[in-house]
Amino acid sequence: IDITKLRAATKGVITIDPGYKNTGSCESAITFLDGEQGILRYRGYSIEELAAKADFLEVAYLLIFGELPTKEQSEKFHNDIKAQAVVDEDVKKILDAFPKSAHPMGVIASLTSALTAFNPSSVNVDSEEDMYKSVVKILGKFPVLVAWTFRKKEGMPLDYGDNSLGYVENILKMMFKKPNGEYTQNRILVDALDKLLILHADHEQNCSTSTVRIVGSSHAGLFASLSAGISALWGPLHGGANQAVLEMLEGIKADGGDTKKYMAKAKDKNDPFRLMGFGHRVYKNFDPRARIIKKAADDVLGDLGVEDPILDIAKGLEKEALEDSYFVDRKLYPNVDFYSGIIYRAMGIPTDMFTVMFALGRLPGWIAQWREMRLRKEPIGRPRQVYTGATERKFVSIDER
Ligand code: ACO
Repeated sequence: IDITKLRAATKGVITIDPGYKNTGSCESAITFLDGEQGILRYRGYSIEELAAKADFLEVAYLLIFGELPTKEQSEKFHNDIKAQAVVDEDVKKILDAFPKSAHPMGVIASLTSALTAFNPSSVNVDSEEDMYKSVVKILGKFPVLVAWTFRKKEGMPLDYGDNSLGYVENILKMMFKKPNGEYTQNRILVDALDKLLILHADHEQNCSTSTVRIVGSSHAGLFASLSAGISALWGPLHGGANQAVLEMLEGIKADGGDTKKYMAKAKDKNDPFRLMGFGHRVYKNFDPRARIIKKAADDVLGDLGVEDPILDIAKGLEKEALEDSYFVDRKLYPNVDFYSGIIYRAMGIPTDMFTVMFALGRLPGWIAQWREMRLRKEPIGRPRQVYTGATERKFVSIDER
């Protein structure tokens, strides 16, 4: 499409599309998504193959730079990230100022934004080299912020990880290392987290990614744009669904495990209850990520020897929904978040940290989309509207109202 010609031909015409259900905001070469057929590819590689064969940092490189890294590129990228895996000591003071009850998503959004204050040079990124510096900075520092947010909540001392480990291995160690330094690595958990992060790494122009692009389009810095994206992800209709799913499943269990009762509530238009983890704006057949995660949940729980009644409730709901015309007619299938919480729970991650783990996975996607937007020199995002308010009115002074 020749956008300039299209604009000239439609000058003055404003399309209205609430929720942007049918509006493309940009051209992008990062992620391909076919909602009808349940296909998801990063830079042309299928999500199934990447989840089975790649590690998270390779996928991050692929998303951001467009190609799978060679051994040398991969090593350099990881070393550059490791060199940035520290934060200013004063960040601890900010973290300390939050109450223990603070939601980790609010904390992590604030800390990410605060990074701009500690790294003012990360804002003006006119060259690819400047961009690269900001990219490795945030990939190094964000896991520290995630681990510290978790440790503060758990009352554990704030500490750094072990840079001799792989990226994902180090994240788990930073989170779970006991105050006395004890830590035993569990390969099953490392592999499961690697897979989960890969599956969450990008999803084209979803709510949080569009937020990152639109904030970044004003040339606000990367960290400020990411902080806005984290806030967008927090909502229960988006990334916050993983927390909402587990709370829903726990609620059903506490209420006697009657899944049929909750299926009826979800279908009742006078009841605000929705089956969390079901439905997707784009996938209208199945969510390919949900398939992989469902199997991973089975494997992880099996390998760890955990029997979780919550998993049985989840499977029960899925089975009933697949046989129910309300869900079938509306093409409502489990999405990526329906099973991810069950794995996080088995890892010992508290429910209110689930969406933070999602943010950790989505970080490379947000970065890739921001970088693409800046390299393509996209104009500032500025939608129009159709005004439906009052026509011109005369001001009435306060005594006469
Ligand atoms: N439970 C019950 N009914 C539902 C559900 C649900 N989870 N999701 C959609 N519906 C119904 C709607 O009530 C509507 O019914 P109607 O046509 O009779 O009015 C129909 O299905 C279409 O739903 P919309 O809300 O119009 O679909 P939309 O594309 O706007 O919303 C969304 C998609 C937000 C994901 C929605 O399905 C939802 O709220 N799901 C639960 C929350 C969730 O799991 N979010 C995570 C999404 S994945 C992610 O962000 C990582």
